[in-house]
Amino acid sequence: MSMSVSRVAGSSLPAQLLHHVTRRRHRFYGAVAVALLLFSVAIWVYGGFDRGVDFITSLPRPPPQSPPQHPHQQPPPAVPPSSSSLAGSSSTHGGHPTQTSPAAKATSSSDWRHSSQSPAANVSHGIPPKIWQILLPKKPTNQKFIPKPEILEETPSWLVMNTDYAYTVVSQDGGDEVVQQYFGDDPRILDAYTKMPNVGMKSDLLRYLILEAEGGVYSDTDTVALKPINDWVPAHLRDKVSVVVGLEFDRRDGPAWADILHDVQFCQWTIAAAPGHPVFRKMVERILSKLDELSAEHGLPIEQLKPSSVEVMNSTGPAAWSEVVFHQLQEFDNTITDYRNLSYMTEPRLIGDILVLTIDGFGMGQPHSNSTDDGSIPEAALVKHLFKGSWRGNDKRSGDAEST
Ligand SMILES: *[C@@H]1O[C@H](CO)[C@@H](O)[C@H](O)[C@H]1NC(C)=O
Ligand SMILES: *[C@@H]1O[C@H](CO)[C@@H](O)[C@H](O)[C@H]1NC(C)=O
Ligand SMILES: *[C@@H]1O[C@H](CO)[C@@H](O)[C@H](O)[C@H]1NC(C)=O
Ligand SMILES: *[C@@H]1O[C@H](CO)[C@@H](O)[C@H](O)[C@H]1NC(C)=O
Repeated sequence: MSMSVSRVAGSSLPAQLLHHVTRRRHRFYGAVAVALLLFSVAIWVYGGFDRGVDFITSLPRPPPQSPPQHPHQQPPPAVPPSSSSLAGSSSTHGGHPTQTSPAAKATSSSDWRHSSQSPAANVSHGIPPKIWQILLPKKPTNQKFIPKPEILEETPSWLVMNTDYAYTVVSQDGGDEVVQQYFGDDPRILDAYTKMPNVGMKSDLLRYLILEAEGGVYSDTDTVALKPINDWVPAHLRDKVSVVVGLEFDRRDGPAWADILHDVQFCQWTIAAAPGHPVFRKMVERILSKLDELSAEHGLPIEQLKPSSVEVMNSTGPAAWSEVVFHQLQEFDNTITDYRNLSYMTEPRLIGDILVLTIDGFGMGQPHSNSTDDGSIPEAALVKHLFKGSWRGNDKRSGDAEST
């Protein structure tokens, strides 16, 4: 189904944004999104585009496309019309792929959809045109939580590269709401999300849940977009890719690293996905069982755990993610028996419906793993990770915020 032809005409992005901003619960990130969008529009207008905002409605629509279906995908449950759906958009998003997620639950009357889909986004693969970043307070709070604007200083790169994509900064309220709306009937998930021992782990879980429910691109706030998302998947693979993952570590012939559990590690600072991919459900299951395991091991309830770095990485973080992705790849291709089968890649590799990028894809600029680290930006680079955030210590830029 097309991402755009089913849209009701006349729901311009500015109108939708204005509507968001006027909605109490979403005023904060609405305002952030508007500010950033205005910024990108300004760059866009002054950067030589002479058609201004009309561009959004005057673009020819791409022909209908079928996003790849998952063998495991269940028929979508009906989603009830929202009482306060977006101005000009149909109450169910008109068959928007968001609502076809197997995770979508018809049980909630919540209207968590501040990230409307932009009509003109030229989607070239099954990954919906949505960009997600997460900004959670270090501790859950009832206070109005406004981090310093600089925490989103890299975001304009995402906006100018991906005009017409929906962009959402998910904070405490939106996170709670998406978890409630899509996973509200699974007490284990609600419980884990609520009791997560630290905000980094909570942010980890939230990204997998959002990608399962809504799809799109999740990227940490300390990442810089280097290529439009529409160009992430090579043309000949467009209808075959449902998930894009990148490497952050490739041991090759180097030494093992103390804190890195696998010879090849996938990053989870950036992940692109169609909604409903089974790898996310598997990841969430692994998180749930690992939390129980840690709780039993330390004889403490989940919310009182003080997990070590390795425990974080091996529960919600990249070590856990790498294991789940690796097992998924093995399911697709049983000749993959060893993490090292993914070492020394010189080109992106499609395994099942997962596109695995070379180290430079999401992991350029690192002094290891044959990542390009000479100051140049290699052709294969899609994203640059600045490694600013840290779930461990105090992130100087963010004050009370946790962005990674
Ligand atoms: C959409 O993107 C494809 C591939 O990048 C391009 O060939 C096509 O012309 C674009 N369509 C529109 C309407 O911009
Ligand atoms: C990582 O977690 C898995 C699953 O619980 C476990 O089997 C493995 O031993 C852990 N590795 C480390 C180094 O803790
Ligand atoms: C994966 O690695 C194993 C062990 O090195 C090797 O026997 C096997 O042939 C490799 N498979 C592929 C597909 O390269
Ligand atoms: C290492 O990276 C360089 C630059 O990207 C590439 O030319 C070279 O082929 C890579 N080496 C191996 C062994 O893949």
